[in-house]
Amino acid sequence: TKKVILDVDTGVDDALGILLAVGSGEMDVLGITTVNGNVSLDQATLNTCKVLQLLGMEQQIPVIKGANKPLLRTTYFEHRVHGKDGLGGALSDMQVHTQPAEGHAVDFIIEQVKQHAGEVTLIMTAPLTNLALAVMKYPDLIHQVREVVVMGGVVQGFGNVTPTAEYNMYVDPEAAKIVLHAGFPALTLVGLDVTRKALLTEEHIRSLGDTPIGRYVRESTADYMQRYHERNGVRACALHDPLAVGVALNRELVTTRHYYVDVETRSELCDGQTVCDFQNRMAKPANVHVCMEVSADAFLDQFICALRA
Ligand code: BDR
Ligand code: CA
Repeated sequence: TKKVILDVDTGVDDALGILLAVGSGEMDVLGITTVNGNVSLDQATLNTCKVLQLLGMEQQIPVIKGANKPLLRTTYFEHRVHGKDGLGGALSDMQVHTQPAEGHAVDFIIEQVKQHAGEVTLIMTAPLTNLALAVMKYPDLIHQVREVVVMGGVVQGFGNVTPTAEYNMYVDPEAAKIVLHAGFPALTLVGLDVTRKALLTEEHIRSLGDTPIGRYVRESTADYMQRYHERNGVRACALHDPLAVGVALNRELVTTRHYYVDVETRSELCDGQTVCDFQNRMAKPANVHVCMEVSADAFLDQFICALRA
């Protein structure tokens, strides 16, 4: 099994990413760190605890709270997409039996990576505030993680917050800049242009059956699917965050290319835009393994299989 830490702002698709990571049986989830993003830090933390309890894993996997706002900017919640509570109204009656662990997410990430040097994969499915703080506090982190997989950005196509920016990059572009330029030897970016090809349909959800997980997925994704339909004309749920987990599980699901990537932080129109130097016009060394294509069917098979397990 692969040692991983998930960093989340649990949200509908972050929750599905957690279900995939745990359900795969191939990941040793050392902990789940939370951050401000789709919803407040406290709500993201509560949602994460609920999802773990749904899985019966609340005693095994610690949840550790991190940053409650972006490095320099104010919060920007995404209630229109994820609902008031972040889980599309699902699990609203659940009484949570566990508390988040003591300590700060940034210290948890540093300690775990030190303790398991060379072994930990960081899966980032939220604004990058926690990881930026971690590399600033402990610069050697970059040599000691095994790999970082980030759901964020869009290199060929349009954004989902502004015309050019993807949400995780938009919310904390200064943090994203720090992470992109930190010098991680293995940093993979799973952007919107590939995640938009990995769509969960109602048929997929039916195939999960009438189980607690199946019912949860149906309930939590209903409004999300409706909104996706209004925007994109398809009734489906984009699996942004789960695809980052999928890539960490099985690199073969995507093709990647090594490019120089930066993020805009000083523009009236384009803050949070990821800029990929496809033709190396800036003559800078590549810093990111950019996902270009995804085998969507293979990924969806893996996802459904893990959620049925
Ligand atoms: C990303 O933004 C959030 O709303 C989702 O949870 C995902 O991490 C997609 O742009
Ligand atoms: Ca997310």
